[in-house]
Amino acid sequence: MINQTFVSKKLLLSFILISSFGLPVSGKTGEDIVLSAPDLHTRTLAASCAACHGTNGNALAGNAILAGMDKTYFTMQMLAFKNGDRPATVMHRHAKGLQVDEINQLAAYFSAQKRVPAINPATQQLKANHD
Ligand code: HEC
Repeated sequence: MINQTFVSKKLLLSFILISSFGLPVSGKTGEDIVLSAPDLHTRTLAASCAACHGTNGNALAGNAILAGMDKTYFTMQMLAFKNGDRPATVMHRHAKGLQVDEINQLAAYFSAQKRVPAINPATQQLKANHD
């Protein structure tokens, strides 16, 4: 038992060491990986939009595509959601939780994202016999 615990700890340590050494090998430099605190904060906020607006704002059909959206348009919509000028089903809740400088940072973030055409899976006919 004691030996097993020792071995697992050693394995865990090796894994941590290998994974941290693995980062630069994957083609990224330390500078690419380390984000400044404001960047990290904005990217974390942006990640909370992904469930509906897709990764980096590239939504699948149906939801607004935020990637490459004009900064001023984005900010105006978010402020309108925030103060209730634009009726919304969910966005008033998101906007009210953001400060104006966070909205500006998100506007800059999403406007800088590349639009990637959505690849929607082809419609499939469901079969009752599962063949
Ligand atoms: C639960 C799903 C959901 C999430 C999460 C979400 N949105 Fe939305 N978003 C919507 C819907 C739905 C609309 C249409 C307005 C409405 O009914 O609320 C919308 C509209 C918008 C619009 C206006 C788009 C246009 O073309 O006018 C912007 C900008 C926007 N969202 C930004 C964001 C940002 C930024 C976040 C993250 C902080 C976010 N959304 C998170 C569902 C979501």
